[in-house]
Amino acid sequence: MVKIAPSILSANFANLLEDIKKVEQAGVDLLHMDVMDGHFVPNITIGPLVLESLKGKTRLPFDVHLMIENPDRYISDFVKAGADIITVHVEACHHIHRTVQSIKAHGIKAAVSLNPGTPLNSIEYILADLDMVLIMSVNPGFGGQKFIPSALEKIRFLKQMIHEKNLAIDIEVDGGIKLDNAREVVQAGANILVAGSAIFHTESIEETVRLFRKKLNC
Ligand code: DX5
Ligand code: ZN
Repeated sequence: MVKIAPSILSANFANLLEDIKKVEQAGVDLLHMDVMDGHFVPNITIGPLVLESLKGKTRLPFDVHLMIENPDRYISDFVKAGADIITVHVEACHHIHRTVQSIKAHGIKAAVSLNPGTPLNSIEYILADLDMVLIMSVNPGFGGQKFIPSALEKIRFLKQMIHEKNLAIDIEVDGGIKLDNAREVVQAGANILVAGSAIFHTESIEETVRLFRKKLNC
């Protein structure tokens, strides 16, 4: 079963809850929240305060993508603010194993993300500790960028690695996912798709989510 995770980065922040209600009604599975600090990535977005204000206002799980330096410092803040899954970037962590353990110690799901240029072997020895791997298919920082095709091969290899180790780990893919490439991404091995502009920058969110489901047979 493929899950759809709209990225609120492309939502209308003047009416954020309204947009969240729209994706919820359209039947999506997760709410992808992009946290950027202006250091790890060249953009600044939201922090725990915004998550906290949405807590309890939607039944959608909070899938929190931390694109920040020194994420260890903020894990408990994001857990308190309502995170159900926290994803950290392997490139931002000196001691990724410790960071993953500290996320899990809070009783929530832990995930690690890899930038397009980061090899899969950077997570080989922590794979068994993860609930999910997030493969970036754009360089993080902005919504609305073009899908980088080499991500497909990376997803295939990751799927193989997971299979060989006999693990059950979600593969989420983020960046440039549209109606016309979603199927390919799922065929490569992804089971959670993040889509920001493709969902929020459309006339009918409900119709777009329906079309995604149709393309993916899910
Ligand atoms: C990029 C973010 C993505 C972004 C995706 O740094 O992590 O989640 O919002 O946006 P689209 O789907 O428009 O590429
Ligand atoms: Zn993201």
